[in-house]
Amino acid sequence: MTESHALVTGAAGFIGSHLVERLLANGTRVTGVDGFTDYYDPAIKRANLIGPLADSRFRLLELDLGEADLATLPEVDVVFHLAAQPGVRASWGAEFATYTHHNVLVTQRLLERYRESRLERFVYASSSSVYGDAERYPTPEDLLPRPFSPYGVTKLAGEHLVLLYGRNFGLPGVALRYFTVYGPRQRPDMAFHRFCRAMLRGETIAIYGDGSQSRDFTFVADAVEATFLAWERGGGPATYNVGGGSQVEVREAVALLERLLGVKAKVRHEPTPPGDPLRTRADSTRLRAALGMVPSIGIEQGLAAEAEWARRLYGEGR
Ligand code: NAD
Ligand code: UGA
Repeated sequence: MTESHALVTGAAGFIGSHLVERLLANGTRVTGVDGFTDYYDPAIKRANLIGPLADSRFRLLELDLGEADLATLPEVDVVFHLAAQPGVRASWGAEFATYTHHNVLVTQRLLERYRESRLERFVYASSSSVYGDAERYPTPEDLLPRPFSPYGVTKLAGEHLVLLYGRNFGLPGVALRYFTVYGPRQRPDMAFHRFCRAMLRGETIAIYGDGSQSRDFTFVADAVEATFLAWERGGGPATYNVGGGSQVEVREAVALLERLLGVKAKVRHEPTPPGDPLRTRADSTRLRAALGMVPSIGIEQGLAAEAEWARRLYGEGR
């Protein structure tokens, strides 16, 4: 049997780099694509790929999927499309053009490139941000999405594109709605990374509102496992919630980090920025039934892993 070949877009990013490692460990050949956008320091993204680049079954293509001639991309068995402009709170104003470019146009171009290919699966990284402040918790996939941020609109547009190429051309597209993913290599703009960095440096952290907002935080290994299983079992066109299985308030997470890092947080409260929903909570029935996936890492274990990683990056704290 020939080995499978996967294309991973956004391969140098937080979730993408973990997915590449998971696929290589599975014996899959991987072509990674990344444009090393400057939303955060590209040097961090290069460091994310040090392991894979030492593996002869990994190849990296550095290109902007919104500009490059995509005919040069290889024929593969499966596409994992994670490249995007992330970040809920930064998607207002002039920045919206960046979001439509990377999240909508890029997705459409990639779908055009692969629509005639005989893919086993086209897996798209969607987001809990498509729900906004949902009408129901836990939120099932078939509730009418109602984004609360421009970012959420672009992720939903990308998701619709994936599913409509499925209905029109038979492309086996699957959209995974990840719920706030955390763990080692988390993006530097995300809450837990910001909290760890500030606490280890003795700086003040900003908590939006009173900290009672909550998320169905998902450990990165669980998100990656669901992504892998979506290739094997995803069917399509289909959407799946990928949540961590518990609801945690931001202030509870800060208290846990204080214990894990042995540092008392200096806290400044700031007004809740526009676009930030109060609560997310995944209904995981479909994930469990169709993909056979049950998240295995709870917040205590997951935050301990992120805190340990942050200590190595930023030093010991006190
Ligand atoms: P990330 O920014 O770390 O990774 C995205 C990568 O895509 C970056 O390395 C970037 O350089 C690359 N990229 C962006 N535009 C590109 C383009 N036009 N061409 C080539 N490469 C491009 O983000 P992440 O947190 O790893 O998120 C990965 C995916 O998961 C994104 O689609 C995001 O919307 C989605 N998602 C993330 C979370 C989360 O909590 N991290 C939650 C829900 C959904
Ligand atoms: C995250 C990702 O950034 C998005 O790319 C992704 O699409 C989204 O999850 C999702 O699940 O759809 P977010 O939930 O805002 O978005 O993730 P964090 O940045 O980790 O924020 C978590 C919570 O901490 C939010 O409620 C936010 O209000 C709060 N926060 C964040 C603070 O109180 N202070 C900060 O400095 C940062």
